[in-house]
Amino acid sequence: MTEVIGTRTTSPASTTSPDVAAAAAQFLSPVVIELQALAVNGKQAHWHVRGSNFIGVHELLDTVVDHAQEYADTAAERVVALGLPIDARIQTVAEKTGTTAMPAGFQKSDTMIQAIIGQIDVALAVVNKAVAELGEIDASSQDVAIEIARGLDKDRWFLFAHISE
Ligand SMILES: [Fe+2]
Repeated sequence: MTEVIGTRTTSPASTTSPDVAAAAAQFLSPVVIELQALAVNGKQAHWHVRGSNFIGVHELLDTVVDHAQEYADTAAERVVALGLPIDARIQTVAEKTGTTAMPAGFQKSDTMIQAIIGQIDVALAVVNKAVAELGEIDASSQDVAIEIARGLDKDRWFLFAHISE
């Protein structure tokens, strides 16, 4: 009885093998990093966008931020549920993100939308890699990645529709 309690204390997902947990962490950790970066940079865009259709773009950017935070939470908590930690400290996010710097200060809506689409594409690259790699390893972790991919595709479309002909 003591052993069971001890196992539960140290390993929240005792039915999952360490290999599965390690793979989930390997592919979902970059997803968390890029979504946290998207949330920060999305707020930068939300605050500084100007020009045509201001209110619509301003509010849409806040929706993108909300989604990025929700998706990051889902991915991070999948890893933690399997018993491994996530490192999403701000220094780690800044060090590991593949995004390029956002334009500083006030920007026209087209420029800001292009910038955030670029940030979403960086996130989608690691999300799609997680979808591709996790299928053979852990269906539940792959499902998390698939849900995030679907959501980011939709947010990308909502932004792109503002600047497409
Ligand atoms: Fe706001």
